[in-house]
Amino acid sequence: MQFEINRKWWKEKVVYQLYPRSFKDTNGDGIGDINGIIQQLDYIKNLGVDVVWINPIFESPNEDMGYDIADYKAIMKEFGTMADFEFMLKGLHDRGIKLIMDLVVNHTSDEHPWFKESRKSRDNPYRNYYHWWDAEKGTPPYRWSIFDKENNAWKYDATTNSYYFHIFSEKQPDLNWENPEVRNAIYDIMKFWLDKGIDGFRLDVIACISKDINFPEMPKDMHVSKWFPYYAQGPYLHDYLQEMNREVFSKYDCMNVGEMSFVTTDDALLFVDEDRNELQTFYHFDHTGVGISQENFMYADASNWDLVAWKKIFYNWDKVFAEKGWGTMYLGNHDMSRMVSRYGNDSETFREVSAKMLHTFILSMRATPYIYNGDEIGMVNTNHTDIEAYKDVYTINYYNQLKQKGEDHKGFLLSHAKISRDNGRTPMQWDDTNQSGFSNTTPWLAVHKNYTSLNVAAQEKDPGSVLNYFKHMVQLRKEHLTLVYGAFELVDESNEQLFAYTRTLENEQFLIVLNFSDTPAQLNTTIQINKENILISNYEQPCKNNNYEPYAAVIYKTRK
Ligand code: NOJ
Repeated sequence: MQFEINRKWWKEKVVYQLYPRSFKDTNGDGIGDINGIIQQLDYIKNLGVDVVWINPIFESPNEDMGYDIADYKAIMKEFGTMADFEFMLKGLHDRGIKLIMDLVVNHTSDEHPWFKESRKSRDNPYRNYYHWWDAEKGTPPYRWSIFDKENNAWKYDATTNSYYFHIFSEKQPDLNWENPEVRNAIYDIMKFWLDKGIDGFRLDVIACISKDINFPEMPKDMHVSKWFPYYAQGPYLHDYLQEMNREVFSKYDCMNVGEMSFVTTDDALLFVDEDRNELQTFYHFDHTGVGISQENFMYADASNWDLVAWKKIFYNWDKVFAEKGWGTMYLGNHDMSRMVSRYGNDSETFREVSAKMLHTFILSMRATPYIYNGDEIGMVNTNHTDIEAYKDVYTINYYNQLKQKGEDHKGFLLSHAKISRDNGRTPMQWDDTNQSGFSNTTPWLAVHKNYTSLNVAAQEKDPGSVLNYFKHMVQLRKEHLTLVYGAFELVDESNEQLFAYTRTLENEQFLIVLNFSDTPAQLNTTIQINKENILISNYEQPCKNNNYEPYAAVIYKTRK
């Protein structure tokens, strides 16, 4: 099929997500820092990636690991100085790598000067920067909070006898986007960083910036999956995004990606249809529910794995962007457990092969691929079952709440351990020296005990490693525009073990076959497969007697 491709640089890049706290510590405080990133710039370059998305590095008391910002124009002291930042940015640019920063503007820290002012008096000029409910109106309508110690999104503040609103923890008060001063202040912050030379933003919980600020009563027994309409995609969301585009994005050649919880395939194009001048891309969560309880997202539940349904999710999303807009592709990030533990198999037998299979998947889809640091070597979950091992406010507050209520907090942790966010935040495993070469002291979060065998240094030396496979796959994506823009079609879609699809652009076609199971599987297709035309595979012989090996991945060239 012949069709027009609308080429854009940000569609063709491979993004590496870097969690700075856990990347590399150079000043011996057990916390990663910007100098650590500077030391590893050549490592990043050698991965072949083109863009780094760095998690928040702004001044913050770290209630939520930087997603609670106290000063948007200053670098967090634990991470370094503005001069370090500028040096890092130059180092990335010198290597042809772009940098996108995390814009957390649904809320600030309660230690941000805006909030400190806002809470001083009811007539403070910053009062209207946040959402306040005066106590004489009575208790505010019930609102569920995701990180709060009691899941209550309203916090009483005695100084002004009022409550303030916070979707996340009480130290993360929500900004009032209906106030134009707030919006202008944020556009000013964005321009400050873009003028410094950064290349764009990842927009944290951006769907939440517009919400119904009449705060209608929320049913107490409402399922957690239903709470978002009360906080997200409010009446002015598209107006705000268009304004942000007009005021900021349109003035720079930059990239953006929104974190878009609860977006559907029906309303997706409202955000990324180029003619609407809002965002370029966003990431949704539809495929990430696997392995998580649908009753309560804090619990693991492997029983809901259904490959056929999962394939359909990717298929439906691909179709949305077939002609307009553009998608993103990821399996791991700092809010998730490790992709190999979740979608692959982290046993000694299958860890490496399944990690390679997942890289083949991420890097052969029609969407901008995002790789989370550590996944390039196939790092796995720690699955801790003692609360002392955790640093995540989300896990800790929920655990304490259950404990206080006399509920099954131990059982909770046994289940939650498999999906907790801290699984994905353990320090990078650079080598087999003490603390995995991450730090010379006890790190803020313990290193995974498998670091002596699973580390960058070992994998760099091994041509068959996950790391080298990843780099090879990145190169193949760059060499073949078909892997970026080619049409995507499922093959043998009812197959319960294999995820197979074609990517076709003009005369070139690839068939990608991925075994998502630990047993051999047969592919049902009429496509002519020539075993001589293998572009890449994680096995020397991925298919024996018509059966694809467990976790096999193979890309065949089937045309041209
Ligand atoms: C989404 C971020 O990815 C997550 O880490 C954070 O806790 C929440 N937003 C709140 O900012």
